[in-house]
Amino acid sequence: MLTRVGIVGAGQLGRMLALAGYPLGIHCVFLDRSAGAPAAQVAPILTGELEDPVLLAALAERSEVVTFDWENISGSALAPLERLTKIRPPRAALEVSQDRLAEKALFSRLRIPVAAHAPIDDREQLIRATRKLGLPGVLKTRRLGYDGKGQFVLRGPEDIDPAWAMLGGDGLIYEKYQQFSREVSIVGARSASGQIVHYPLSANTHGGGILHYSIAPFANARLELRARTYLHRLMRAMSYVGVLAVEFFVVGGRLIANEMAPRVHNSGHWTIEGCVTSQFENHLRAICDLPLGSTRPLGHTAMINFLGNMPDRGRLLAMEGLAFHDYGKEPRPGRKLGHCTIVRNRAAARNFALANALKSIQWT
Ligand SMILES: Nc1ncnc2c1ncn2[C@@H]1O[C@H](COP(=O)(O)OP(=O)(O)O)[C@@H](O)[C@H]1O
Ligand SMILES: [Mg+2]
Repeated sequence: MLTRVGIVGAGQLGRMLALAGYPLGIHCVFLDRSAGAPAAQVAPILTGELEDPVLLAALAERSEVVTFDWENISGSALAPLERLTKIRPPRAALEVSQDRLAEKALFSRLRIPVAAHAPIDDREQLIRATRKLGLPGVLKTRRLGYDGKGQFVLRGPEDIDPAWAMLGGDGLIYEKYQQFSREVSIVGARSASGQIVHYPLSANTHGGGILHYSIAPFANARLELRARTYLHRLMRAMSYVGVLAVEFFVVGGRLIANEMAPRVHNSGHWTIEGCVTSQFENHLRAICDLPLGSTRPLGHTAMINFLGNMPDRGRLLAMEGLAFHDYGKEPRPGRKLGHCTIVRNRAAARNFALANALKSIQWT
């Protein structure tokens, strides 16, 4: 088993990985620009640019395996590390998930349905795409988008100019707008020996492109089987090691893949209290050559993000069984600062508690 893990990026995902590692005797060391980053408050950190070759090599030297809290590091910055240490998940998985167009091409190659889309490099192409694929649609940057950033929803032809004014340039993608009934995601883990586990589906509610809350399990055996099949195809195709998350739209009872994340995922935070083994522990188990843990749910769970401001902890903690997570970040509008989780025996009781907790939370 491996016990020293290097993590590129020290955000809240890294922090929750480090916290999951301690009971297993796994020690994480981070690389991040900021010495005050969430994970740096709980584990050692090297500070500097994420793509600095000297720092990356130092991280690799201090660890037996390198993983990520932030997946947008360039493949060329990582390539030299492959001679020094194991990189998990593999660099190729990171690279494909960095580009929405390459990601959709991989989905399609594996017969995983995606929204109709077209690459956009100039304004003429955008006009043609809105005619060919129709409106409404979403114009997105191919790279570096997250939490709904780098996106513009076009409702009618009058939105072409404002969309182009905001995002115009090369490296865009236009997608047909999906009239979904739900957004769901699947999170799973694969070990180097090929063992695969997956969590129950989670149903995710977004506002302005950013996750507000998730409920799980989203009990739909047919959709879960589909999602699981797609997850397995992706993991096998990429010789994946670690946790992988795939987001879907449910359209007319079918799953349309939206995007994947080669890391632990916000829609899997509920697994900390909601399952026998959390996504964080299973990511570490996978990359450290340990057997994967049970993903059995412990009840009906809701996870709510704290965005932009921290809610009143006293009020929330007065709720029975509520788990509170503060990431130790400075408040900023739209920023993910923490989350809370509630587990109940029955779905109706969970829904009631969720509605109650939501009264104490404001997204800003
Ligand atoms: N083609 C689409 N149709 C409808 N809604 C979309 C579409 N693309 C994105 N969205 C909405 O915006 C959210 C964020 O978009 P996503 O592609 O997942 O980017 P991000 O990397 O920011 O999470 C989605 O969860 C969904 O709510
Ligand atoms: Mg997303």
